Amino acid sequence: MNVTLCSALAFSSSLLANDCRPCHAAIADAFAKTGMGRSITERPSALPSKFYHRLSNRHYTIADGKMRRHQIGAGGTEINVIEKTIDVAIGSGNHSITYASRTPTGLLLELPVSWYSQENAYFMSPGYDRPDHLDMRREVVDSCLFCHSDSEKPAAITCRRCHGDATAHLAKPGPGNIYNPKQSSEVCFQCHLETESMGVVDSMRKPGRDVFSYKPGEPLADYKLYFDRSDPPAGRFEVNHTAYRLMQSACYQKSNGKLGCVTCHDPHSARAREACGSCHQSEHTRAKVTGCAGCHMAKRKAQDAIHIRMTDHWIQREPKFADPVKESHEPYSGTLIPFYTKADQLSLAIANTRVPTAASASLYEEYLERAPNDVPTLIALGKTLIRLDRDRDAEARLRKALSLAPKDTAARLALAVSIGKQGNVAGALKEMKDAVAAAPDDSYSWLNLGFTHRELKQFSEAAAAFREAIRLQPDLAVARMALASLPAGK
Ligand code: HEC
Ligand code: HEC
Ligand code: HEC
Ligand code: HEC
Ligand code: HEC
Ligand code: HEC
Ligand code: HEC
Repeated sequence: MNVTLCSALAFSSSLLANDCRPCHAAIADAFAKTGMGRSITERPSALPSKFYHRLSNRHYTIADGKMRRHQIGAGGTEINVIEKTIDVAIGSGNHSITYASRTPTGLLLELPVSWYSQENAYFMSPGYDRPDHLDMRREVVDSCLFCHSDSEKPAAITCRRCHGDATAHLAKPGPGNIYNPKQSSEVCFQCHLETESMGVVDSMRKPGRDVFSYKPGEPLADYKLYFDRSDPPAGRFEVNHTAYRLMQSACYQKSNGKLGCVTCHDPHSARAREACGSCHQSEHTRAKVTGCAGCHMAKRKAQDAIHIRMTDHWIQREPKFADPVKESHEPYSGTLIPFYTKADQLSLAIANTRVPTAASASLYEEYLERAPNDVPTLIALGKTLIRLDRDRDAEARLRKALSLAPKDTAARLALAVSIGKQGNVAGALKEMKDAVAAAPDDSYSWLNLGFTHRELKQFSEAAAAFREAIRLQPDLAVARMALASLPAGK
């Protein structure tokens, strides 16, 4: 058979399931057909199309495995053109597909236009239907891959995400030496429990826990803490709300832990089974027999992705709801409280930190005593210290963050700022150039590179950097103002 290198790579994820197929063929085949078994595709074929987004006044063209963006300038010419290859598809397309592009430096960038199966059309990706969206600049973060991918390296979900390490089992195939999650829904919660997808800190990993360090069978609370608004709107419904909404149901709350995901779903085919009758026997249920979910579990539009309809797992007598007509981007400024897991005071205080203050800096410092190598906290502290003009301390924290996570764009940019603010403009210039080289799609890195050149009176380099920032992010007003402020003729 003539197998190319690309397709060998594309199928590498199913090799993991192939370890199991010789003995568990029916399970492996059923799982391969689920959305989970197809959650990531390398080199997907995206349907060609054109799409105009009015709010941001940008044109998108999807063709030949690429997504291209342009605007129309004076005289009808194309300006601010960006083109990215479509390298990875996130989502099976059961509901939708969000595409990502791999940069030469190995970052994955989310693309701004997604495919929506129920509408049979492209629209903006969730969160992007606004004038100042992130366009082609948003990194696909590890937490996104934790739920959608088998590992850091994007690949479809396999057996090990629910059964854990299979080394002992493969050495001596038989019962008792591999995790069987029959008693617990927490293997499902690791990905299906989310209180809110945008705008709040909905969860926090425990100190020292890497993203992919969760082991099926261990208590989820040892891995992460969950938070929710203290006053969640009753009707709020999101794409990934299965566990969150199920937990609000009388069926869940009043059945002493007997109702789990596997009560109603075969975990390998993912299909729902008629399970209501195991708890409900009445005149009413005997008359209906099937179709219970059709009346008691509504299919409704998700508020964080308004082109997707999902099953509401809050089982209700008569579900009442209003479908959202547009995306809402209102940030939440109220208090967060623990949800599902018990949070300690310090973690809760950090989750509730919104603005950089001296008080929040000491919270981060206290947290780092527990977890000296916690990268998100090191970066948050570094940025806070910059705001407090404690630039030398900020530099130390950010250098440490970068020694642990050398690819972190935000940390590199903040480091450059902290150095520049200490008066070492030449040192800052070197870091800014590194920041731009590491993440050439980040408009703020170019903006700050421009400021640094301007400081050094290198006006033509400054102008070039500001222009690149504007090409990447046409709505970046501060870059336009900076460009206009340069001495004439540059
Ligand atoms: C050489 C044959 C063989 C291979 C390969 C194999 N298994 Fe098994 N597995 C068995 C046998 C035999 C049992 C015990 C009987 C049963 O439950 O089907 C078993 C049982 C299991 C159980 C139930 C364990 C329990 O104690 O309840 C799980 C889960 C499991 N296998 C998962 C896997 C996974 C995941 C893989 C691939 C990484 C795999 N198996 C590969 C033969 C195999
Ligand atoms: C590693 C993360 C992860 C785990 C663990 C996980 N899921 Fe999923 N699940 C997903 C994602 C992501 C999707 C959406 C996949 C897609 O269609 O692209 C999904 C989809 C589903 C679906 C929709 C149908 C389908 O064909 O996929 C069902 C049902 C489901 N999961 C049930 C479960 C149950 C039950 C468990 C626990 C036994 C579980 N999941 C564990 C991530 C996970
Ligand atoms: C906490 C886990 C989690 C995170 C984080 C997460 N997702 Fe999801 N996502 C899910 C689950 C689970 C589903 C399936 C929901 C369902 O079918 O009820 C889903 C559904 C989707 C779908 C629709 C798939 C389909 O066809 O059913 C897309 C596309 C998607 N997510 C993209 C993303 C992207 C891109 C990110 C990161 C920016 C992200 N998600 C972050 C868990 C997550
Ligand atoms: C989404 C989570 C999930 C994934 C992925 C998953 N399993 Fe399972 N598996 C379960 C759960 C939950 C059970 C317990 C089912 C029960 O008790 O009803 C189980 C049970 C089993 C069993 C015990 C026998 C049985 O049929 O109940 C075997 C064998 C097994 N899984 C093999 C596999 C293999 C092989 C793969 C990969 C092809 C796989 N599983 C992928 C969740 C998963
Ligand atoms: C594990 C057992 C269990 C299963 C399975 C189960 N339920 Fe329930 N359900 C309960 C319990 C317990 C209550 C609370 C009864 C009470 O308040 O007296 C309940 C309550 C309800 C209510 C009333 C809700 C309310 O808020 O007043 C409805 C409707 C309902 N269930 C429908 C369903 C449907 C439909 C299914 C299947 C999709 C289902 N249940 C599956 C245990 C279960
Ligand atoms: C055609 C729509 C419809 C179907 C199908 C349906 N129900 Fe209902 N069900 C209702 C309505 C409406 C109520 C509220 C009645 C009330 O509160 O007076 C209700 C009430 C209930 C209740 C709470 C009151 C009670 O009788 O205990 C339960 C539990 C319930 N349904 C379970 C089920 C189950 C299980 C099935 C499937 C076997 C099912 N229903 C099928 C419409 C439906
Ligand atoms: C009381 C039964 C019941 C329980 C418990 C249950 N589900 Fe479901 N689930 C359903 C039904 C019914 C559907 C709709 C199936 C369909 O339309 O084919 C569904 C659909 C889904 C879907 C597909 C979303 C969509 O709208 O297409 C996912 C994902 C899912 N369930 C995950 C889970 C997870 C994870 C859990 C545990 C947190 C869970 N379910 C618990 C009954 C249940």
